[in-house]
Amino acid sequence: MGTGSDDTALLTSCPSWARLDALARGFRARGARELFQSAPGRAAAMSCAPFEDLLIDFSKQPVSEEVLDALVALATERGVPAAIEQMFGGEAINVTEGRAALHVALRMPAHASIMLDGQDVIPEVHAVRERMGEFVTRVRSGEEVAADGGAFTDIVNIGIGGSDLGPRMVTEALAPYAEGGPTVHFVSNVDGWDLTSTLANLDPRRTLVVVVSKTFTTQETMTNARTARRWLVDGHAGSEEGLERHLVAVSSARDAAAAFGVSPERTFGIWEWVGGRYSLWSAVGISIALAVGMDHFESLLEGAHEMDSHFRDTPLARNVPALAAMIGIWNANFLGAPTLAILPYDERLRLLPAYLQQADMESNGKSSRLDGARVEGYGTGPVVWGAAGTNGQHAFYQLMHQGTQRVPADFLVAATAEHEHDEHHEILLANALAQSQALMMGRDREAARAVVEGEGGGASLVAHRTFDGNRPSTTMLYERLTPRMMGRILSVYEHKIFVQGRVWGINSFDQWGVELGKSLAKGLLPAVRGGDAPADADESTRHLLGHLRRMRSKG
Ligand code: F6P
Repeated sequence: MGTGSDDTALLTSCPSWARLDALARGFRARGARELFQSAPGRAAAMSCAPFEDLLIDFSKQPVSEEVLDALVALATERGVPAAIEQMFGGEAINVTEGRAALHVALRMPAHASIMLDGQDVIPEVHAVRERMGEFVTRVRSGEEVAADGGAFTDIVNIGIGGSDLGPRMVTEALAPYAEGGPTVHFVSNVDGWDLTSTLANLDPRRTLVVVVSKTFTTQETMTNARTARRWLVDGHAGSEEGLERHLVAVSSARDAAAAFGVSPERTFGIWEWVGGRYSLWSAVGISIALAVGMDHFESLLEGAHEMDSHFRDTPLARNVPALAAMIGIWNANFLGAPTLAILPYDERLRLLPAYLQQADMESNGKSSRLDGARVEGYGTGPVVWGAAGTNGQHAFYQLMHQGTQRVPADFLVAATAEHEHDEHHEILLANALAQSQALMMGRDREAARAVVEGEGGGASLVAHRTFDGNRPSTTMLYERLTPRMMGRILSVYEHKIFVQGRVWGINSFDQWGVELGKSLAKGLLPAVRGGDAPADADESTRHLLGHLRRMRSKG
């Protein structure tokens, strides 16, 4: 299957697995807090600075040098170095779909080369980007005009999953770089409220609709796209003349885009070797470029490429995505902490948890191994969740500090903000540092007793004021959230997910798990409209359908 290691070998039979298992026993009662006591200089030793304006501090994770050694050995035994080369070499590592996973090609410079089926993909990548760049620049300058000859003021990006989350998140994150461009809006949910509420304040004569769908068949996207198309026509007194000036498509299904009414000049291609959740670097990111301009979009790609190079060229023991991956595996598989909280202390990354949910959970939420056997004896992808700091502190941090489960967390912190309210940013920074410190150090009974006594409280409160500590976190500290930094950060997560998938022996690049619900929804649609329930509908679903119809008939 071209996956570079013995896929049928059990992860749990690897020599390093047993070693880690033995080491884990010592970590049930202790963690990073104790490690700091026994190893001064740990903070620097356990941090990586692949670039001078980016520091990744793993020191609050419960890993000793010995654990790190074993984790790196496990990654090696599982063929991670070879798998990295296979990915960059364009091998068909997405084995269940027989495809390469070549998102790294999307951010390679023009002089690079990656051969796929005897053809270099880089010239084509750059050709599409160049065409996209010309179009973006014309829209932003007002040269590319609407049907009535006026400039576009608003863009509506219609897509879902990878055709929405990445572009939406990055567009919001890079808002300070949007000098004078059109306003970009995103519609994803088939819930009509999403489209209705977005279009309510827009003028169809000034709006460019960008339909982003790799397949151009996704039910939600096509439903929204058809309704938006009607809105455009209605807004032009029912005339379709000039309609194509208002439509852009990003898709690998060019014919379907043409049938929808998008002109070939306004259709930008993507390739089957780009997975939806890895696609924002392609023309799928056109809305990012429309919002912030092509130069900033290029910087985003360059940043991702810089981290790609770090990932490809750095030994595993200093390799940021690989270390993040292996520490995640340590927490999930050995220390019983199978979730991951994404905590950006950076409001501009508010949507990062949602983006990473798809990136990680759609990639590694698998229970079949590459060889088709069931994953046994270990868990795979974590449940990913989170929210921007400090909002999370006033919502779910209680559980993180004192709940019965350990929740590993990633803190993302910008040293400098892109606004003028220094006081706000200083408070934000202090909170970020305080939370990761509190999670690790906790507060022992003696300290809790002192607090309680100081407040004149009863001894029964001591237990409630105690914090176990040793709750793992990583802090990613960066100077500024520039487009380049954004690219680097996202590349870390993409490669982390890839390494974890490789170690778990699963295919991170397919998503068969989304299929069943999609096909059942198609079968249930006629029943929702009043027809018979499909033969495969279970008793509960039939029961719900009955009540649904009764309620809808009243409305
Ligand atoms: O949710 C499944 C999925 O296939 C995602 O992987 C993808 O990002 C999304 O649907 C949208 O697909 P498309 O771009 O083909 O509309």
